[in-house]
Amino acid sequence: MNLLETARIVIAPCTCLLAVALSAAQTKSPAATPPMGWNSWNYFAEKVDDKGVRVAADQIVSTGMKEAGYTYVNIDDTWEGERDASGVLHTNSKFPDMKALADYVHSKGLKIGLYSSPGPKTCAGYEGSLGHEEQDAQLYASWGIDYLKYDLCSFISEVMEKQAPNDMAAQMRLMQAAYAKMDKALKATGRPIVFSLCQYGWDAPWEWAPSVGGNLWRTTGDVSPDWDRIAVIGFGQAGLESYSGPGHWNDPDMLEVGNGKLTLAENRSHFSLWAMLAAPLLAGNDLPNMKPAIHDILTNRDVIAIDQDRLGKQGTRAYAEGEVEVWTRHLAAGALAIAVINCADNSRFATHPFHLSLSKLGLQGPLKGKDLWTGEAVELKDGQPLELPTHDVLLVRIHAPNGRVDVSR
Ligand code: GLA
Repeated sequence: MNLLETARIVIAPCTCLLAVALSAAQTKSPAATPPMGWNSWNYFAEKVDDKGVRVAADQIVSTGMKEAGYTYVNIDDTWEGERDASGVLHTNSKFPDMKALADYVHSKGLKIGLYSSPGPKTCAGYEGSLGHEEQDAQLYASWGIDYLKYDLCSFISEVMEKQAPNDMAAQMRLMQAAYAKMDKALKATGRPIVFSLCQYGWDAPWEWAPSVGGNLWRTTGDVSPDWDRIAVIGFGQAGLESYSGPGHWNDPDMLEVGNGKLTLAENRSHFSLWAMLAAPLLAGNDLPNMKPAIHDILTNRDVIAIDQDRLGKQGTRAYAEGEVEVWTRHLAAGALAIAVINCADNSRFATHPFHLSLSKLGLQGPLKGKDLWTGEAVELKDGQPLELPTHDVLLVRIHAPNGRVDVSR
C-alpha cells in the first residue's frame, strides 16, 4: 500500500464524519425550542429607536432575563428609511447605524431581529421588501441579523388583490410564494436567521408555513393587553397542537405580560397558557420600568421550562367546565403539566370550589407535583377542590403521572 492509499483510508472516515457534522449543523434549526426574547412593538410601537433597543438589551442582561433564556432583541416596524438609487434600503434617523446596534446587542451575548413585509409597505407604512427580497436579505446578513418577522400588510392590497381579484385561492398562492421567496433569499445568505411569518393566521398557515421555511407563524390577529383578547387567542389554539414542534411553532403573538391594566392573576395566566402552548416567549413590556412582580412572572424558571421543554409538544385543552379551562402538556421524561385557569369574571369558588377531575385527564390520583407559581409541593387527588381567584391559574408539574395519559398525542 503506498502512502497515498494509506492517506485515503485515514482521510475517508474523517471526511465522512466531517460531512455528517456539517450537515447536522446545517439542518440544526435556529428554533429548536420556541424563540425567547423581547420585541419592541407591544409597548413602544413607533417610538422604538436605537437607544431604546440598547437599553432593552442592557435590561435583558441586568434583570437576569438573559440567564432565564431570553435571547432575541427584536426591532419591529418603523426602523426602515428610504432606498437609494441602487435599491439599497437605509435605516431612518431613529437608527443611525444598524450594524453598530447589532454589534452592541451581540456583545451582550444576545441576538437581534428585524421586521419587514413582502409588500411595498409595512403595516405602519414604511418601506417593505417587494422586489428587493435578495438585496434585503443580504443587507440583514451583512448587519448580523438573526431573526426576521415578515408581515403581510400591503402585499394584500398591492399584490394579492390586484393580481388575482376575486380569486382567493390564487391570492393565497401568491402569499405563500412571497414567503417562500424570502425564505430562499434568507437561506442564500448562509446565515441562520429565524423566519417568523406574520399573516394573522389566514389560510391555515400551520398547514403550509413549514414548507416555506417558517420557524414560527402567527395563528391569529394581533394580541392586545386585555384579558378577553388574550383568552380568545390563547384558548383558540386548541386543536393546533399537532402542527407544532422543534423548529416550527404556532405563534399566538407576543407577550403582553406587564402591559396595560392586566392584573397579576391575568399576567400569570397569560404566561402559563403561552408556556402550555409552546409559544414563542417574546416579552413586549417596558423593561426599564418593569415592576418586581412582573419580573418574577417573566423569569419564573419552572414555567419557562414548560415552554422550552425539549420534546416540543404543544399542550391542549383536556376539558372545559363552564368557565374553567383545564389544559395538559406532555413533557420530556414522561412528566406532565396541568394548567387550570378560571376564566370567570366573578369568582364564587369560596362556597362552590371547582373540582378537578383527574379521571377526565386519564389519570389516577393521588399525584405528586409542584405548584409552579407558589413553588410548593402539591398532591392532587381525583375531584381535587380548587378555589381559584378570577382569571388566575393553577399550574402544576407532575413528575410521574400515574394513569393512561395518551403520550402519543
Ligand atoms: C401588524 C403585526 C403586529 C406589528 C404591526 C407593526 O399589525 O401583526 O405584530 O408587527 O403590524 O406595524
